[in-house]
Amino acid sequence: MSKVVLTNSFRGGTGKSTIISNLATYLASLGKRIVVIDGDIISPGIHAIFGLGEDSFDKTLTDYLLGKADITDAVYDVSSNIGVNSGSLLLVPSSIASSEIVTLIQQTGNSAKIEKGLGKLNKKYNPDFILVDTHPGLNDPFLVATSFSDIILNIVRPDNQDYQGAQVSAEISQKMNIKMYLVLNKVLKDKKRLVNDVQNAFGLPVAGALPFSQEVLSSESQFIFLERYPSHAFSNEIRHIAGKVFSVKPKSQLEMMHDLLGEIRDRKGVSVKNLGAGIDMLRKNGFVSVDNGNVKLTAKGDKFLKKYSTIKRFRDDFRL
Ligand SMILES: Nc1ncnc2c1ncn2[C@@H]1O[C@H](COP(=O)(O)OP(=O)(O)O)[C@@H](O)[C@H]1O
Ligand SMILES: [Mg+2]
Repeated sequence: MSKVVLTNSFRGGTGKSTIISNLATYLASLGKRIVVIDGDIISPGIHAIFGLGEDSFDKTLTDYLLGKADITDAVYDVSSNIGVNSGSLLLVPSSIASSEIVTLIQQTGNSAKIEKGLGKLNKKYNPDFILVDTHPGLNDPFLVATSFSDIILNIVRPDNQDYQGAQVSAEISQKMNIKMYLVLNKVLKDKKRLVNDVQNAFGLPVAGALPFSQEVLSSESQFIFLERYPSHAFSNEIRHIAGKVFSVKPKSQLEMMHDLLGEIRDRKGVSVKNLGAGIDMLRKNGFVSVDNGNVKLTAKGDKFLKKYSTIKRFRDDFRL
């Protein structure tokens, strides 16, 4: 069974969906197979961050829980929306139809169904990690989801009400013997001191402290921030958190260049905006040219890709 990682927060708007979607994208970009489940059945919405419009999916987790569909019919591959080519990112969205949500929260037995559904997803897709987004608070869906998770990421803003809430869920996770990390979000200043203070106060590991950022806010949950702004402080901290929680190693600059070149070769009409900051590195090395915001492989870039047609050959040569 792959590892199930769940987000939680006591109150809404702490950044759960933003953080889990960015972590998922980063893990997939490292070649991991990821399934993201929108377990926020009461106020779903992570599909928007992954660029999956409401009219592009008909079956959902809600349909599965209501007995109207198989869970594997509610799986959507969003890898290409987020520029992932080596790993994979599959999303199980929830329904935004209010009548279905009401029926769903009134019915019993969701817990057993979720557990069964996870087993089925595991068998069919064999993911490295299953990441579950949840509704805020210690409500029924949270407790349901907690019972089948291996790790909980408790997202906290530097705010007393959030701290009190984190204390309660920390006690629950301890009782249920589940590993919990705190993740601080929307941090305004003195990150190091805050991490130390919170770690000491809660006796729980703090996986990272993400800065409050006007740019993240302006993304309006419409795209994956890390993909568009890979060198932003928020994106750097997401990679740091992934290293701690999922024990993954970041790619070297060379590997990133190789990936980006492959992407440019595979996609037509790529723009600087779509490919982010790595382009500058490629341009400086003469692998690509940028004309009016459009990126093209140069002869040197093309030769490089032909020589290192597989990542294995590339790694062997550069001893990565
Ligand atoms: N570090 C941050 N800095 C600024 N805005 C953020 C940050 N993290 C999240 N946001 C914004 O806060 C809002 C709530 O985030 P969201 O991920 O939807 O929270 P939740 O899922 O916990 O309800 C969104 O508008 C999002 O863009
Ligand atoms: Mg959310």
